[in-house]
Amino acid sequence: LDIVVLAGGISHERDVSLRSGRRVADGLASEGHRVTLREPDATLLPFLAEHRPDVVWPALHGASGEDGALRGLLDALGLPYVGARSNASGLAWQKPVAKTVVQAAGVATPDWITVTRDAFRELGASSVLDAVLHRLATPVVVKPASGGSAQGVSLVDERGSLPRALVDAFTYSELAIIERRIIGTEVSVSVVDTGDGPVALPLVEIEPISGDYSFEARYNAGETVFYTPARLEESLAATVADAGLAAHAVLGLRHISRVDFIVDEAGTPWFLEANVLPGLTETSLLPQAIDAAGLRPGTVYADLARKAMADGTD
Ligand code: DAL
Ligand code: MG
Repeated sequence: LDIVVLAGGISHERDVSLRSGRRVADGLASEGHRVTLREPDATLLPFLAEHRPDVVWPALHGASGEDGALRGLLDALGLPYVGARSNASGLAWQKPVAKTVVQAAGVATPDWITVTRDAFRELGASSVLDAVLHRLATPVVVKPASGGSAQGVSLVDERGSLPRALVDAFTYSELAIIERRIIGTEVSVSVVDTGDGPVALPLVEIEPISGDYSFEARYNAGETVFYTPARLEESLAATVADAGLAAHAVLGLRHISRVDFIVDEAGTPWFLEANVLPGLTETSLLPQAIDAAGLRPGTVYADLARKAMADGTD
């Protein structure tokens, strides 16, 4: 196939995307496909209109890549692409919206509230704090409502640290989400559909050495210990995998996603978010799940491209 892999972009996760894109392009080339690795810059649309590849493989993280905007342009050009459609991407990209949708489908998600940057400015930190603590007890997690790679995310143990955490989150997004922190084990469900419907790959359990799965713990080898498959009892692992597949389905995702959970002591998987383009770098989770399934990443990326082409543009 003639495949254009998109990587880079201007999101906060640009560097991560360049690493993911390089690996996807290498994997596809190793399967014998003709691959062009390209930035989504101002010349992208004329290039695609002229070149008309068989399929586009968007290895873009963050805004424009995962919020559905660029995928909408691919729809307009009538080009098939790997991954969630534009609307579903937009849904999953906004964490509060995704949590509402997934919760309505019967999957647990930690209680949360949202705060806009304007409300924080106008009402002042202390009234926001009162509202937060009225609803949620500390510890909490503060995050940008949209974003990835843990950028702007803070674990907050006491009221005094909340304003700073909100300011950090507002660097990335005009809306912040404050979520009750669930104590338990972080487990990711990698979902792929290469033709026979969505399947969950072996679960990845995440144990950051610092205790915080931060940007640094994600992308520096050795800063996190991964267990793939996760060290969960078989029936619990199946429950978590099913919750991941349910979230993927109810959000309307397609081809590939990674759904992140914390599993508490009682064995409840708490949905945190779904990623429409999970990290595919050398330290990322989905490639580890592919390895644990006994598959080759290049083969899976090529099968996804074939599936995207078969699905076409309708
Ligand atoms: N947003 C990063 C790339 C991830 O979800 O893995
Ligand atoms: Mg994410």
